[in-house]
Amino acid sequence: MSTLSTLLAQTQWTDEERRYLLSLTKPEDVEALRARAFSVTTETMGPNVYLRGLIEISNLCTANCRYCGIRKSNHEVERYTLSQDQILACALEAHRLGYGSIAIQAGERRDEKWVRFIEDVLKAIHAATQDEAHPHGLGITLSLGEQTLEVYERWAAAAGNPEGLRYLLRIESSNPTLFNALHSTPGKYEKVLEHRYRALQDLRRAGYQVGTGVMIGLPNQTLDDLVHDLRTFETIDADMIGMGPYITSHGGDMVEEGMMAHDPLLQRTLNMIAVTRLVLTGANIAAATALETLEPGGRLKGITYGCNVVMPNITPQLTRTSYQLYDNKSGTEVGSEANRAIEAAINAIPGRQLGLFTLGSAKRWCARQG
Ligand code: 5AD
Repeated sequence: MSTLSTLLAQTQWTDEERRYLLSLTKPEDVEALRARAFSVTTETMGPNVYLRGLIEISNLCTANCRYCGIRKSNHEVERYTLSQDQILACALEAHRLGYGSIAIQAGERRDEKWVRFIEDVLKAIHAATQDEAHPHGLGITLSLGEQTLEVYERWAAAAGNPEGLRYLLRIESSNPTLFNALHSTPGKYEKVLEHRYRALQDLRRAGYQVGTGVMIGLPNQTLDDLVHDLRTFETIDADMIGMGPYITSHGGDMVEEGMMAHDPLLQRTLNMIAVTRLVLTGANIAAATALETLEPGGRLKGITYGCNVVMPNITPQLTRTSYQLYDNKSGTEVGSEANRAIEAAINAIPGRQLGLFTLGSAKRWCARQG
């Protein structure tokens, strides 16, 4: 194989080369990878880091994903759903702060009452956030799980802002055996990877900017799995990527399987972010809350490795502790001053600045739209 500096100057990589880049651990090697990913980000995406205000609108969930603390069979969680007025107040606050868009996330539900509730919320946000600076209103990212094409279309119509319409649906892992192990409940598979791929295609048809991603450091996950995940992101032609380290959740069903040790998990996550930036140059890549949970300041590290999106949590304080996807989730105990701190810290990264009052769409999506 070529030397590292030759590899980093390339624009295409074999699976073997990708695996090698992911495996780097020597300080000078990871620094070279980081520096290359950072400059590719600057060249393709510019200096802006975009903020998406994350609103965790409900922790009710019909799914039983084994890694997740708000899965249906965790009866220790107090369940909540925000009212339309509460959600609207969060959206208006994000709008006031100059966040170009918000991300609405919840557990997975498919009943008509829920579908209609989301429609109403989207219409209300659209009506309340249109002004001269935002003729199309606030951008909206939905993260509400697997739905039918018809539901995706209804929500797209209700959002009323085709330029700022996005959906995050992680595949969690592209290895079907691992995917099944993460989602199976005894005697039945409640989730199937093929359905997820279908949902991602449906989202594209319905006009969304499509986001996906995986967890890094899952029990039994290999570097080859991550290499395959990268190929899958390219096949999906993802506009947005959200990835973070897998962290044990005591509300989940995988406690006995453990998790990777802190240092190798942190480096593997950062390497995966950097290599994703090299292969999907024009994608928006988010620095996940799980990265901040693993390592205080982790999101800022993520930015230096190629992330260009941060999603500050703007959920009302009262319900935050009930949206515990994994143990010690970052940001559950802190208020808006923590968001001001991350905003200031982003501006302090040389070569980076906050991208405010703009949608900040993925370059890949803009190119596809012509
Ligand atoms: N560790 C890390 N990330 C998790 N998620 C859920 N549970 C965990 C966990 N234990 C992530 C999943 C999901 C997103 C909303 O949160 O990737 O798609």
